Amino acid sequence: ASPWTCSATLSDAYSTKVDELADIDWENLGFGLQPTDYMYTMKCGQDGNFSKGELRRFGNIELSPSAGVLNYGQGLFEGLKAYRKDDGKILLFRPEENALRMRMGAERMCMPAPTVEQFVEAVKATVLANRRWIPPNGKGSLYIRPLLMGSGAVLGLAPSPEYTFLIYVSPVGNYFKEGVAPIHLVVEHELHRATPGGTGGVKTIGNYAAVLKAQSAAKAKGFSDVLYLDCVHKKYLEEVSSCNIFVVKDNVISTPAIKGTILPGITRKSIIDVARSEGFQVEERLVAVEELLDADEVFCTGTAVVVSPVGSITYRGRRVTYVEGGFGVVAQQLYSVLTRLQMGLIDDKMNWTVEL
Ligand code: COI
Repeated sequence: ASPWTCSATLSDAYSTKVDELADIDWENLGFGLQPTDYMYTMKCGQDGNFSKGELRRFGNIELSPSAGVLNYGQGLFEGLKAYRKDDGKILLFRPEENALRMRMGAERMCMPAPTVEQFVEAVKATVLANRRWIPPNGKGSLYIRPLLMGSGAVLGLAPSPEYTFLIYVSPVGNYFKEGVAPIHLVVEHELHRATPGGTGGVKTIGNYAAVLKAQSAAKAKGFSDVLYLDCVHKKYLEEVSSCNIFVVKDNVISTPAIKGTILPGITRKSIIDVARSEGFQVEERLVAVEELLDADEVFCTGTAVVVSPVGSITYRGRRVTYVEGGFGVVAQQLYSVLTRLQMGLIDDKMNWTVEL
């Protein structure tokens, strides 16, 4: 059953002139919230089942001051994108992967989660209701932000008695203020993002609050973001605050293996598959920080970030530079294949895109 048929505000969604593009400056989208028309909400009570969701006007939500998410951080989020094709059709990129990742995270955080089908249907409904906010082809994408939160009241530490699944969207352009120009990273060797046995491998909200201190300090010194090391050996690369990392040496592409402390990025996984299909050798393994010293190229991947070239990395005061001004050859090739696939400009042999 489509969630389109379960909402009182559905007719609002249809009667809005959604085929007309919203009247905003499409040329200068960054990565900031642009409120849109609708959001999707779906609740789950103590029976553990999510009821039918609904589209509502985008706006503030009401929560008990003692909601589990506000008091104990029982929350997860996801990020995925919709693209407008040249012919006006809409493409989602691998939404089932986000649904599955949310289900994995929910298991770790003791939360019930929507089924893959519920998740994907809800994403489709939210995107369609907001389709006038999907940027024209080549100008950006519609960023889709699903949330899962303990919305029921608790006082003692325990799983929340009620959960809310919510999706909102915002048109976005480039994540970093550098645009597609290389970013400059600093390796953080004191603060850590994740610990073995912790929650670094799931997309829980607290992982992101935990990086703000190091990120703010790095930005104050002129860096774009922070690259984290493992907290046991303080030697192996983990990830950047908002994206995964890849290192290229002699045309071999290496990235830290997923082992519970690194977010299993969907763009990370897609880039590995694209790289292999383009004939590259890709290794998922421990990558020591010293390997940055003689790497040919370094780049980051993420839904928000897409593929971002790294211009320099500073580690304990020593700065190593890579590309200047643009992409390195390997990152450029992978970026080009991935984004053309996402925007429907090449044949989707991988079967990753979902057309609306
Ligand atoms: C994404 O890339 O979608 C993320 O969730 C990272 C976020 C910090 C913007």
